[in-house]
Amino acid sequence: MKGWIKSIRASKGLIFLATTDGIKDIQLTLKEGEYTLSGEIKTGASFEASGIDSITPKGFSEFLVSDITILGDSDDSYPIQPKKHSFDFLRTIPELRGRTKTFQAIWKLRHTLSKEIHKFLDRQDFVQYWTPIITHADCEGAGETFDVKTDWLEEKLTVSGQLHGEVGMMSLGKIYTFSPCFRAEKSATKKHLSEFWMLEPEMAFYDLTETIDLAEDLLKSVLSIAASYESEFVKLGIDSKHITDLLDKEWIRLKYEDVCKEFGLEWGSDVSTEVEKKIIEKYKVPVFITHWAKDLKPFYMKKDDKVAYCFDLIFPEVGELIGGSQREESYEVLKSEMVKYGLDLSKMEWYLSTRKYGSVPHSGFGLGFERLVMFVCKLQKIHDAIPFPVSY
Ligand code: 4AD
Ligand code: MG
Repeated sequence: MKGWIKSIRASKGLIFLATTDGIKDIQLTLKEGEYTLSGEIKTGASFEASGIDSITPKGFSEFLVSDITILGDSDDSYPIQPKKHSFDFLRTIPELRGRTKTFQAIWKLRHTLSKEIHKFLDRQDFVQYWTPIITHADCEGAGETFDVKTDWLEEKLTVSGQLHGEVGMMSLGKIYTFSPCFRAEKSATKKHLSEFWMLEPEMAFYDLTETIDLAEDLLKSVLSIAASYESEFVKLGIDSKHITDLLDKEWIRLKYEDVCKEFGLEWGSDVSTEVEKKIIEKYKVPVFITHWAKDLKPFYMKKDDKVAYCFDLIFPEVGELIGGSQREESYEVLKSEMVKYGLDLSKMEWYLSTRKYGSVPHSGFGLGFERLVMFVCKLQKIHDAIPFPVSY
């Protein structure tokens, strides 16, 4: 038996140690005079113990220790004590907060969500594709890039793998990237990070409706599996009703035009967090807002005179979880959009070439992975959805 001591309780000649090896939690019971000890028992210390499996009078499993050796000492300054610590406090010690059962559960659910996304896409014949982190392509064109500079290179950190993902789509039909993205915008909100992970599927021959169908199927599948990890929700002190409530209902698809009418927005204005909240309060399920005013959206989206063929998926609690669209597949139209949006064409020939040889109608989306973790674990701040948050 090996692990870490999480708490120590002594009573009538008995010492009870709550321990974990990261995988399983078990109580170690030490009976006075019936065990040997080398080292000092302290919260946070690691140990190796021998003994036998047993059952407590109340019917819980325990490990009756005959010999215990402390492998790595701890002392009274160890900040994780057996009491409820606030998320605010734990955020100040990212190197230790993973030792609490709350964060163990969050990291495990994060792992499960990631694993199930890969499994779902693999079943649907998607191929994972890898796009550069260091690049000149500012996909979203919002000027929110971090610079990367050395004496022989001057580039940026990627804000999205999409543009290179479209290259992959042209060779493999259906691809996805699952990569870190970086945004330098000064957004100090509960749902913005400077470094976050994005899932980005890109599919040849898909139109907007098929893409929304895929997003809904993927999320329902992944969420239903995540919801079955009951013991993790117990550790978080919640249940999974906020997830299961969404699974057996059709999600809403609403045109931007109708959002404007219903919620009193002027055509061309963005949908604020306040309006997102009102939408969710009204419909009580995730809502795809589609066909946004074209000037609100980036250069690569397929557009007509008025709207972009795109969607944002608005989710309870976290707001925008996904942004996606059909892509402009015409070389000429795309090129003129790029000029209009002020992109440096001399550096973007590789991207335009996806429309030069065998261009196809195609679509894709980007899902903010930490926002998904945040929703699943009912976190108040996105900073608790990633082990080492970087944010403004
Ligand atoms: O809406 P966004 O900016 O879309 C794109 O980057 C597209 N190129 C994606 C694509 O079509 N392949 O970002 C997609 C999602 C958002 O809906 C949000 O969930 C998440 O990424 N996201 C962030 N998450 C955390 N912190 C930030 N600063 C984020 N910015 C976007
Ligand atoms: Mg967006």
